[in-house]
Amino acid sequence: MCRKARAGSKGLTWTMDFRVVCVFCLALLLGLSHSEQVKFADCGSTVGAVTMVEVTPCPNQPCQLHKGQSYAVNVTFNSLVDSQTSKAVVHGVIAGVPVPFSIPIDDGCKSGIQCPIQAQKSYSYVNQLPVKPEYPSIRLVVEWELRDDSSKDLFCIKFPVQIVA
Ligand SMILES: *[C@@H]1O[C@H](CO)[C@@H](O)[C@H](O)[C@H]1NC(C)=O
Repeated sequence: MCRKARAGSKGLTWTMDFRVVCVFCLALLLGLSHSEQVKFADCGSTVGAVTMVEVTPCPNQPCQLHKGQSYAVNVTFNSLVDSQTSKAVVHGVIAGVPVPFSIPIDDGCKSGIQCPIQAQKSYSYVNQLPVKPEYPSIRLVVEWELRDDSSKDLFCIKFPVQIVA
């Protein structure tokens, strides 16, 4: 990919320029393969509308979650209401049964959202999904909610994942 072209005195500058371009392309490629817009289902966002869900890294879907690693989840949504607070609730749905999934920070206002939340504004909720080494190697559905002051869902999204060693 990054072949050196050397011919005379002009060759050196050409090599330098080419290198800069190569580094830039590589960075772009890595960036693209790391952050992935995932297909999600809405599970009842009553006071918000989700526009995009990103999981990083997730080069292939369903996202493969490696034990002991942590994944960034970025949910972009429009709020339909004003809210002072926001609280995240995460479940792993295993064979149809929702099991509470603990996340280190459940305060949405400390996860990329500037509170108070205002109606008709767009927000990006960004948090980490830690995958503990003791989790079983199974496929499951991650269900992620963000609740407003009156416990209504600013968003509720779900997407399939596979936990791997
Ligand atoms: C989250 O996604 C939005 C929309 O693509 C983007 O503008 C924002 O920079 C992302 N935030 C992070 C921390 O990745």
